[in-house]
Amino acid sequence: MTKKVLFIIGSLRKKSFNRQLAAKCREILEKSGNIEITELGFSDVPFMNQDSETPVPASISRIRAEVAAADGIWIFTPEYNYAIPGVLKNLLDWLSRPLVPGDFTSGTAIAGKKVTISGVGGKNATKNVRADLKKLLDFIKTEVICGEGNGFAADGTAFQTDVLTLNENDLSVLEKQAEEFMKAL
Ligand SMILES: Cc1cc2nc3c(=O)[nH]c(=O)nc-3n(C[C@H](O)[C@H](O)[C@H](O)COP(=O)(O)O)c2cc1C
Repeated sequence: MTKKVLFIIGSLRKKSFNRQLAAKCREILEKSGNIEITELGFSDVPFMNQDSETPVPASISRIRAEVAAADGIWIFTPEYNYAIPGVLKNLLDWLSRPLVPGDFTSGTAIAGKKVTISGVGGKNATKNVRADLKKLLDFIKTEVICGEGNGFAADGTAFQTDVLTLNENDLSVLEKQAEEFMKAL
């Protein structure tokens, strides 16, 4: 059966290293055959404001439907000031809210979803953001595959050229993560 995987990229930057990492993971995952990968667009998601939860904004209904349809979610994120980028945190805050505003028994779009994490950043290879993200994902009741996931450090050349280069070891780490993730779906 075809598995549906949703990519969430925590950077809105066009030449984002995390988007480049996601492209590599798409190649790796597609080798395993029966898979349909989509990227969640969320630049139209408003800032979380409890006054705006009813009526449910159209962009929120759309992201909830895309998340609900996914068998698994792969998050690719940079680290901003040792923490989760605001746009990604805002998205996850919306996804953590009850489907029926005010009814905490109605469930959320993301609870129970299988999620895995990767990130590209500076020298510390997104260590802090991945730890924070794991904590948040546990709290909102997702099933996190591969723990804090894997991080990669962009080097000086990458920062000058906006091109991320992954070495053999990076690729084998990603292949292992992809394999474990797919096995869990
Ligand atoms: C507001 C801001 C804060 C940042 N803080 C960190 C940081 O704490 N650690 C780090 O490794 N890189 C940090 N960076 C650099 C990012 O890792 C780098 O810009 C990276 O390319 C962003 O990911 P992207 O290429 O996917 O957009 C920061 C960048 C921005 C814009």
